[in-house]
Amino acid sequence: MLQYSRQPLVAGNWKMNKTVSQAHTFVNSLKEAVAEVKNAEIVICPPYTALFSLNQVLKGSNIFLGAQNMYYYEKGAFTGEISPLMLQEAGCRYVILGHSERRIYFGEEDTLVNLKAKAALRTGLTPIICVGEQLADREAGKTEEVVQKQLIGSLVGLEPELCQMVVIAYEPVWAIGTGQNATAIEAQEVGNFIRKLLVNNAGKKGAEKIRLLYGGSIKPDNMADFIKQPDIDGALVGGASLEVTDFSLIIKTVQEVESKCQQLF
Ligand code: PGA
Repeated sequence: MLQYSRQPLVAGNWKMNKTVSQAHTFVNSLKEAVAEVKNAEIVICPPYTALFSLNQVLKGSNIFLGAQNMYYYEKGAFTGEISPLMLQEAGCRYVILGHSERRIYFGEEDTLVNLKAKAALRTGLTPIICVGEQLADREAGKTEEVVQKQLIGSLVGLEPELCQMVVIAYEPVWAIGTGQNATAIEAQEVGNFIRKLLVNNAGKKGAEKIRLLYGGSIKPDNMADFIKQPDIDGALVGGASLEVTDFSLIIKTVQEVESKCQQLF
């Protein structure tokens, strides 16, 4: 059953897809498709190049902007990097940190994710911190061990009040872009494990406020199973966030399940 104090969140991670003009075409259709959605928070995370101009198009809509990464300094000699301040000015409310593709292809580790999370929160951005095990870890029965290490490492030194504001995305690496999603029960088990760990960082009440997303081959037809789980508050969607029809169906599924649950109370 859904927790009502946590507003569901559906975030689309476009990765390295869509030019600025493609992004505009997409967003104009998405705005119309999801105009009636109220119970779920909608976020799109396009490439940096599209952020500023999309922010103008999204003003007054129910869709928020997020970035896919950032560096942790406000400014300086860091060729190729983007600062939290720049993202904030470009209209971002969220930033994805520690995505497995950043960890695998760009060598990002928990200490860096931690510095980025602190910088994001200091600037008023909400970090969506990704954790998740590789297939070999799961097969070796090490899912919890890996997730615990990533979570603790990413949140170390964060005051409980700040910690309450983060979003955690559980994304099993073997489920990303493979069409092979974890089951909703598997996601719930890890989600519940994460929430219990979060008590150490954010206190019991704080941990209840933190939104946990599932990510990994989310599609319109499997979203309902995940959002019905008590510790899953939404999704981080990759491939299916690139098509307006699929992405809006996913968002509407979340909104529908949420409305039904509210009617029960
Ligand atoms: P996917 O990607 O939905 O394409 O599996 C999810 C992600 O990488 O966040």
